[in-house]
Amino acid sequence: MAAKDIRANGPAHVAIIMDGNGRWAQMRGRPRLYGHQAGARRVREIVESCPSLGIRYLTIFAFSTENWKRTQAEVTGLMTLFRRYIQKEAQELLQNGVRVRFIGDRDRLDPKLVEMMRRLEELTEANDLVHLTIALNYGGRDEVARATKRLAREVAAGRLDPEDVDAETLAHFLDTCLLPDPDLVIRTSGEARISNFLLWQSAYAEYEFTPVLWPDFTRDHFAEILDNFGTRERRFGAVSA
Ligand code: FPP
Repeated sequence: MAAKDIRANGPAHVAIIMDGNGRWAQMRGRPRLYGHQAGARRVREIVESCPSLGIRYLTIFAFSTENWKRTQAEVTGLMTLFRRYIQKEAQELLQNGVRVRFIGDRDRLDPKLVEMMRRLEELTEANDLVHLTIALNYGGRDEVARATKRLAREVAAGRLDPEDVDAETLAHFLDTCLLPDPDLVIRTSGEARISNFLLWQSAYAEYEFTPVLWPDFTRDHFAEILDNFGTRERRFGAVSA
């Protein structure tokens, strides 16, 4: 499993659904949060691997709009983990050239966490080596609905002509308006679903489903998937040349 560095035909933007933390913990007879903590350590490893693997944009699904349905203890534990991650990793991210952004609806999040997110975005805004986007209280349908609301306000205010609205206009109102579309979406843990992640943006993305549970997902697993991506032919709806 050689980790070949900097791929010519590699994806610029990889999005990851980090699944399997709960099962990983269960297999060890430990509480689910133990799996999430192990998952957070993998986030660090995978982010650090991006420059040498040629990944400029990495987007990770940390908490979905549906994850509020989990037990209060798990939700609280995850929120604490996100705060700790920001606190612990901020300086390292800054020094490693990582620009951090968050996508998702911040309204339902604890204001203290929202403030930490804002400060981390501000702290790293001059970085350009790796663009890390963390999806927190994110859902693809919710994002499109929020974008539509903002777009409708522009129409109502007379600043936008409905006749001028096309796909590009809507994309401009999405949380991801500053990011390129993902080239590759990876989901760990053997589930083959997209679970409301980047629905609009993934229209032409390739998908990779790996059986590896997220807390076991190493840089070598990542590199292997990226090697495989280089062999695919992406036609974007056209025919082969
Ligand atoms: C899905 O696994 C994972 C989540 C809902 C949380 C993802 C969070 C992390 C990886 C923690 C760290 C993240 C950051 C940004 C610090 P699951 O719990 O649904 O696993 P299961 O399907 O095995 O139950």
